[in-house]
Amino acid sequence: MRVAVLGATGQLGTDLVAHFAAAGDDVLALGHDDIRVEAADSVRAALGAARPDAVVNTAACHHLGRCEEEPERAFAVNALGARNVARAARELGFANVYVSTDYVFDGRAGRPYTEEDLPRPLSVYGASKLAGEHFTLAASDPVAQAFVIRVSAIYGKVPCRAKGDNFVTMIIRRAREQPQVRVVDDEIVAPPPTAEIARATREIVTAGRPGLYHLACRGSCSWYELTRAIFDLLAIDTPLHRARAADFPGPARRPAYSVLDSRRYHALGRGEMPHWRDGLAKFLSGGAA
Ligand SMILES: NC(=O)c1ccc[n+]([C@@H]2O[C@H](COP(=O)([O-])OP(=O)(O)OC[C@H]3O[C@@H](n4cnc5c(N)ncnc54)[C@H](OP(=O)(O)O)[C@@H]3O)[C@@H](O)[C@H]2O)c1
Repeated sequence: MRVAVLGATGQLGTDLVAHFAAAGDDVLALGHDDIRVEAADSVRAALGAARPDAVVNTAACHHLGRCEEEPERAFAVNALGARNVARAARELGFANVYVSTDYVFDGRAGRPYTEEDLPRPLSVYGASKLAGEHFTLAASDPVAQAFVIRVSAIYGKVPCRAKGDNFVTMIIRRAREQPQVRVVDDEIVAPPPTAEIARATREIVTAGRPGLYHLACRGSCSWYELTRAIFDLLAIDTPLHRARAADFPGPARRPAYSVLDSRRYHALGRGEMPHWRDGLAKFLSGGAA
């Protein structure tokens, strides 16, 4: 399979490139210098030259504050960018995978979100990604099969370029630099390593059943509980205290609960997402790349 990864220099893009290549695919790693998703001519030129069988689009404007300040840019990249790739998929005939987010939900469910749950984004970022999902799925046809894969709280070996870090590496650095650490205990997630997302993404594409998929780890934890597990695994003894999300007001509202249920992926019979504790242990031991 010939696969183009958009956002190839990013946190998830890096692991997608590595995983597809390791599986024997012919991988084209397209960074921001190679393709600007918001520009239809750039998308057509890059993908017309590449002639891929599948495209995985991780390119995003996803810094929450910047999306609130520049909604036009957020929608240009996350929504119209997805539309440009979807149109190219129809013209050129490739499978199109759009990576989306748990932030399409408002966090009120109180139980893991399934693909059937109604989105209700709280932020410009979430709304723009939801629009990108719709453009992607609406263009699906038997050749240009469209997939939307929602992920949440991902962490990889390469820092998230939009945020400059990810939670796991950030909290380890803070624990080494600061006398004590306070972490939010009332936001609940099921954070997966990007290597696990890359592996599952390839399984979803090759299974050939297009549509919407959730990918997250099994179980759930607060950011505080995740930090406790990191400190225990790495024997970090920096004092750790519980905080509330309201103690760290941000530029946009965030869902208080955004655990995603991966059962549609599991039903493909192509593998299972690990428990978040197992994914974390593998990542910290260097085995999740
Ligand atoms: N990080 C998370 O916790 C998280 C959670 C849920 C969902 N997601 C979704 O997962 C995906 C990947 O996230 P990530 O953490 O890997 O992001 P990332 O590290 O910020 O990588 C994004 C990549 O997209 C590129 N890019 C940005 N704007 C672009 C544009 N207009 N045209 C083409 N390329 C562009 C970036 O290049 P430059 O840096 O050079 O601009 C970078 O290579 C995103 O779609 C995001 O919405 C992420």
